[in-house]
Amino acid sequence: MDSTTRPVAVITGATRGIGLAIARDLADTHHLVIGGRSADSVGPVVAGFPSAEGFVADLADGGPGGSLETALSELVPRLGRVDVLVHSAALLGAGSVAELDPATWSEVLAVNVVAVAGITRALLPALRSAEGLVLMVNSGSGLVASAGSGLYCASKFALRALADALREEERPHGVRVTSLHPGRVDTDMQHELVAFEGGDYDPSRYLRVESVVRAARLAIDAAPDAAIEMVSVRPRGR
Ligand SMILES: NC(=O)c1ccc[n+]([C@@H]2O[C@H](COP(=O)([O-])OP(=O)(O)OC[C@H]3O[C@@H](n4cnc5c(N)ncnc54)[C@H](OP(=O)(O)O)[C@@H]3O)[C@@H](O)[C@H]2O)c1
Repeated sequence: MDSTTRPVAVITGATRGIGLAIARDLADTHHLVIGGRSADSVGPVVAGFPSAEGFVADLADGGPGGSLETALSELVPRLGRVDVLVHSAALLGAGSVAELDPATWSEVLAVNVVAVAGITRALLPALRSAEGLVLMVNSGSGLVASAGSGLYCASKFALRALADALREEERPHGVRVTSLHPGRVDTDMQHELVAFEGGDYDPSRYLRVESVVRAARLAIDAAPDAAIEMVSVRPRGR
């Protein structure tokens, strides 16, 4: 089975963490396009699903002739429709404004914001064909900023603005746009954050990826007459 017989879900950051959990959840019903940075990370994930293909691109390399443009030029002609586009890939970029240099700012904004806009733009005709859903995995950091995460928060605030603008632009075309804002989740990115903050890693303090998937399902399974435009899901009791 392939993209001609199943609804299509394109998922960036699908090799690990939240993106991989969403891919697993959709695997029985959708043809999956698995996004990741390298063939080494994408290949084994693709091989584990009944209907899947890879979308290998370094989202930080989004300029003319770069890795992202090349990958999109191969992917877009293959997809007549996109029913679900999940933007999950992101970088953390932890550090204070005093610490972080301009190159780090550029890289994180390229992956967390600019690539999201570029991939969405390239897939809009296929999204419109399917009257599909764009699900942007944002964060609590897209709602409230805090010390030591200015870059990450700036990228997620920008992602929220991108989602809000896209939602209004695409209403007439039937494309729905959801901004999903998880609190802290037990993933590799959380390990990176706890290492930055210092202290022990206690997974029970964080959301499980499966809980984030259930929140994502609210948007994916919305009734035809409804659009779930924003979802905030947080660790209970914290
Ligand atoms: N974890 C949390 O606590 C948390 C909370 C709120 C929101 N979020 C958001 O949830 C989303 C997923 O986070 P996560 O915790 O699942 O992250 P993760 O475990 O760190 O996984 C990151 C994913 O992004 C991909 N990626 C990173 N840089 C890339 C690049 N330059 N080009 C292409 N792909 C790249 C990785 O691919 P490779 O495996 O190929 O490197 C991987 O699949 C992110 O948008 C994050 O901001 C996370």
